[in-house]
Amino acid sequence: MSKKIVVAICGASGSIYGIRLLTALLKNPVKIYLVISTVGYKVLEHETGYRGESFSSFLKNNGITFNKNAYLYTYDQDDFFAPPASGSFRNDGMVIIPCSMKTLGAIASGMADNLIHRAADVNMKEKRPLILLPRETPLSIIHLKNMYVAAKAGATIMPPSPSFYSNPKNISDLVDSVIARVLDHLKIEHDLVKQWG
Ligand SMILES: Cc1cc2nc3c(=O)[nH]c(=O)nc-3n(C[C@H](O)[C@H](O)[C@H](O)COP(=O)(O)O)c2cc1C
Repeated sequence: MSKKIVVAICGASGSIYGIRLLTALLKNPVKIYLVISTVGYKVLEHETGYRGESFSSFLKNNGITFNKNAYLYTYDQDDFFAPPASGSFRNDGMVIIPCSMKTLGAIASGMADNLIHRAADVNMKEKRPLILLPRETPLSIIHLKNMYVAAKAGATIMPPSPSFYSNPKNISDLVDSVIARVLDHLKIEHDLVKQWG
């Protein structure tokens, strides 16, 4: 059975992480349920070559190849009728990459007023994996408290902190050092980074 993964891209800096995660996931026979926030789209335009086309076209035009059994479903952030809005939708995990401090705050407070917040809320209540890659620096006590609360509720807090021990040669290598950890947590095989030892 192919894995079902919910992916959300928020309006924090680092859209490249979301794109690289989708690239790696779609090489596998997976079903991806993608939600990009309104500001997420704007930051994507600012940081990447995205120009408002369908997200599948954008990925394919950037040379990203889909496994023949990979499916990418995209949903509007206000679509509360989408599968990830319901606890009855069984999935193998949700990743918010990057996760803004606003979305983190909404998750920590239970204020599910868009599909990203709601899907995260659902995965926490259903005890399914929720991986957050919060991006901000420095962190205020409010950000730290929200991360603590989300972690207590079952989320994995995985700041996008690239590692240097694998001797990265370029930005892609640095980004992949982060994506490798996400895939490890989703239990998806990859060869992005050599395992230590
Ligand atoms: C270019 C750009 C970069 C941003 N970077 C960050 C960031 O790194 N972290 C963050 O928490 N917010 C960042 N913001 C602010 C968020 O986009 C803003 O708080 C927004 O309300 C987040 O909404 P969302 O979580 O629904 O995407 C950035 C905004 C812009 C325009």
